[in-house]
Amino acid sequence: MKVGIFYSFNTGKTRSVGERILKEFGEQAQSVDIEEINISKFLEYDLVVIGASTWYDGNLPDYWEDILPDLENADFKNKKIAIFGLGNQQGYPDYFGDAIFALAEVLEPLGAQLLGYTSTDGYTFNASKSVRDGKFMGLLIDEETQPELTKERITNWVKQLKSEMI
Ligand SMILES: Cc1cc2nc3c(=O)[nH]c(=O)nc-3n(C[C@H](O)[C@H](O)[C@H](O)COP(=O)(O)O)c2cc1C
Repeated sequence: MKVGIFYSFNTGKTRSVGERILKEFGEQAQSVDIEEINISKFLEYDLVVIGASTWYDGNLPDYWEDILPDLENADFKNKKIAIFGLGNQQGYPDYFGDAIFALAEVLEPLGAQLLGYTSTDGYTFNASKSVRDGKFMGLLIDEETQPELTKERITNWVKQLKSEMI
């Protein structure tokens, strides 16, 4: 299984979490700068992992405005994808990690199959668009208020993704 981990190399925390996910996957994974994307790149991987933080009360950061039109032209039919998001549950409890939903909303209609749902247990927030059927639609990392949980969350998620790919 070949895994591509797509995130912006210009970010702070998203990049750091992307690198940690990359390390956890080991040799089978490569990281790709989503700001330098060529849409054919997605075809190279069995599993596409995409990361984004949430900004501006529930939106994607500005650099996504340039990337989304490219994503919409890519072939995601039957492509297995998993999304990781960063957010701050204390600072933005009404929009916690909404970026996961914002990406899923674009990718699923293109045919992508979403893996890696996770439990909301252990988080405290009012609302998140990224919850579907009681679970986050990916991995939500909160480096501001729960950095001590990040390592375990990443380890468990990568294990889960490996088993979901079989
Ligand atoms: C201006 C601003 C707006 C933010 N809005 C949200 C938000 O709506 N929901 C959320 O969960 N986190 C929000 N955050 C928290 C960020 O998602 C969090 O700090 C993340 O770790 C930033 O990662 P990055 O440095 O890779 O962009 C916001 C942060 C900033 C600075």
